Amino acid sequence: MDYKQVTQCRVCGSKRLTKYLDLGMMPLVNALETRYDAVSPKYPLEILLCESCSLSQLSIVVDPKVLYANYPYRSSISSTFKRHCRHLGEKLYAMFAQHESHRPKPAVLDIASNDCCLLREFREVGFIINGVEPSTNLMPTLDELIPVTNDFWSEKLAKSTSYVMDFITATNVFAHVDDLDDFVLGVKQALAPKGMFVVEVPYLKDMLTCGTFDTIYHEHLSYFTFRAMKTILERHGLTVFMVEQVPIHGGSLRVYASKHSYPVDKSVGDLIRFENLMGYGMPKGYVTFVEDIEDNKARLLKLMRAIKGKKVVAYGASAKGVVLLNYCGLTKDDVQIIVDETPDKQGKFSPGTGIQILHPNTMEAVHPDFILMLAWNFFEEIYEKTKHLESVHIVPLPSLRVVV
Ligand code: TYD
Ligand code: ZN
Repeated sequence: MDYKQVTQCRVCGSKRLTKYLDLGMMPLVNALETRYDAVSPKYPLEILLCESCSLSQLSIVVDPKVLYANYPYRSSISSTFKRHCRHLGEKLYAMFAQHESHRPKPAVLDIASNDCCLLREFREVGFIINGVEPSTNLMPTLDELIPVTNDFWSEKLAKSTSYVMDFITATNVFAHVDDLDDFVLGVKQALAPKGMFVVEVPYLKDMLTCGTFDTIYHEHLSYFTFRAMKTILERHGLTVFMVEQVPIHGGSLRVYASKHSYPVDKSVGDLIRFENLMGYGMPKGYVTFVEDIEDNKARLLKLMRAIKGKKVVAYGASAKGVVLLNYCGLTKDDVQIIVDETPDKQGKFSPGTGIQILHPNTMEAVHPDFILMLAWNFFEEIYEKTKHLESVHIVPLPSLRVVV
């Protein structure tokens, strides 16, 4: 068996876990196939709520060796994401200048540094940069002079280094981690006494209010409320002193924590109060979300039936696209090809549906009647690149919309 069942909450250890969502059997969304007739293995995709700390978590954990065997994600393809990284760098640099004005260059460690998008921006802003990244295919070249350790983050790794960091960032990783205790203990170990841990995770509130269930897949083990995030950090002696909501990835939480007692910002109490009000600790807080998902699926399927026989191309071989296609049961009969700018993905086949992924310039010859936006979170950016084709754009989420 290449997965294990979750029996207790990874934040607080409670066994009071209640299932509130079942998306059926789903392939591993990033396991792109190299053959059109490949049969992708599928795993249950369900969410459990911890009624003690309000963490939402998948009911299973797929073995990371299987899950991350070939990870194609490249964050810098999106200029939106690059801008987001730049803003974060400037913001943290200004905070540092305020607290430690006598030192010129803060040291930052980015955990799961991916293709070093964030680190490059940080370097330009004036940071001394360091990264840790488990994927071998994402290591920077030597001439880029970015020190990245090729490993999974852990307390053991932190202890084996001499890291004393002014900032540790974790912007696309926390939701992927099974052993959060070990992760946070490692952060604590590597932080300078006044250092700040800045963690970003997709915010459960945005997923619930927008119905964006397509961020639910096997890599995302946890779906955080602020309360759950605060619980795991404070359990290990990192005090949360500020929280922000940022628009990246359909809406994310950016949480600031430290071993040092910084004054606690009003945002902390405000967000906890909001979550209590919304009933995020109880299954009934999730009923509308589940209904919205089913409604949106029904509306999309109705539209797809209405345009059957027309040329439909999907834009963005995103992980969320795989979830949408599989959950809605769409096939090659509905969507002929997927286009994506990521060279790694081109020529491969989307798992579960076998739809081929090609370079976006294929569309110039195909002249699609419809473009299904599977990377709907980058709608504006992609629309600018595709509007000359005069195709009708279908935006499946946050709620189904047709752009002519
Ligand atoms: P993304 O939404 O970043 O992530 P996820 O896989 O986590 O759902 O995926 C967007 C995909 O769209 C990614 O494969 C890159 C691709 N893309 C383009 O090909 N062109 C573009 O202009 C943009 C913005 C994205
Ligand atoms: Zn819990």
